[in-house]
Amino acid sequence: MKTNLYSSIIEKISSDKFSSIFILVDENTEQFCLKLFIKKTGIKSFNKIIIDSGEENKNIDTCVSIWDQLNSFKADRKSLLINLGGGVLTDIGGFAASTYLRGIKFINIPTTLLGMVDAAHGGKTGIDFKLLKNQIGVFNDPLEVLLDNDYLKTLSKEEFINGYAEVVKHSLLTDKPDLTFNSLVKLDLFNDSEYIINSYSLVKNEIVKSDKYESSIRKVLNLGHTIGHAVESYSHISDKIIDLKHGQAIVIGIINELYISHKKFNFPLRDVVSVKEHLKKYFTLIPLKENDMENIYDLMVYDKKNEGSKINFVLLKEIGKPVIDQIVDKELFKESFVFYNE
Ligand SMILES: NC(=O)c1ccc[n+]([C@@H]2O[C@H](COP(=O)([O-])OP(=O)(O)OC[C@H]3O[C@@H](n4cnc5c(N)ncnc54)[C@H](O)[C@@H]3O)[C@@H](O)[C@H]2O)c1
Repeated sequence: MKTNLYSSIIEKISSDKFSSIFILVDENTEQFCLKLFIKKTGIKSFNKIIIDSGEENKNIDTCVSIWDQLNSFKADRKSLLINLGGGVLTDIGGFAASTYLRGIKFINIPTTLLGMVDAAHGGKTGIDFKLLKNQIGVFNDPLEVLLDNDYLKTLSKEEFINGYAEVVKHSLLTDKPDLTFNSLVKLDLFNDSEYIINSYSLVKNEIVKSDKYESSIRKVLNLGHTIGHAVESYSHISDKIIDLKHGQAIVIGIINELYISHKKFNFPLRDVVSVKEHLKKYFTLIPLKENDMENIYDLMVYDKKNEGSKINFVLLKEIGKPVIDQIVDKELFKESFVFYNE
């Protein structure tokens, strides 16, 4: 058992530093992860807060229910919230903790690949609002993020693969030869998951370290997300395409934005094609029609990362060489979907 991983958390929860400890779970992480967490930490005294799983619950109502439960258990400013779950849970748990009594401490224990490699790190917390993802939130770092891939054993294959989109994104952003996309494709997602989690979460952490509040370099992490977030929101509101998971939508964003990079910056077409082919091994690329594109474009205009009505993209000159704040016209946006649909 990887007990040494837990030594810092065990020390924190067994000290009298915190007046009370809360563990936030959803119905799946309660069933599959909580017992393991209790066994590994030996924690005895805590209150459990349960929320419903799913992106559709990453909203203010769920947040109110967390605040309500903290209130009813008389949480105070010295309470600690432990978020045990995927990206939805760590996003909302981090936000609820950061706003309750002007902020209580929280720890993230991600239990999905996506959470381990991306969502649990970097201090972005938040909820969706109306049609838009992550529209309300704050930057606030967790006290600690613990990566234990033992939790992945109960994750469905579909959810496991969902997190791979962000791994591919990180491999396109780094210029470290042993981590770039060409090295990643030589790994086995399932057998090498521990290495993948530790290495590619570091890519994110290094970027975040130099620009916590996303005023410049951190924006590169939005590669694939300008189009991807709009596709994700569209899939939730439209009956024309199936509901997409975050990773599935980001894959569409990555392919389109790499094609746009090719057109604007001569990013090699052979790399765009090999990324698309590699992603197709794991993800089904759903066809998107002209009308879908129009709706996705409109949603992008409302994205919070845009200034005025200009849509800001992160593009690549080559693998490991991102450029931020790029404006892309609608024609090129549409052309990228022609490439995507081929
Ligand atoms: N804050 C950030 O920087 C950041 C970065 C990337 C993504 N995100 C957010 O992350 C979210 C997506 O996260 P996700 O893909 O982890 O989704 P998720 O949290 O919805 O988890 C996916 C599903 O797996 C279940 N689950 C979690 N762990 C499990 C386990 N070990 N065994 C069995 N079932 C388990 C959950 O209950 C859920 O049903 C999105 O809301 C996205 O916006 C945030």
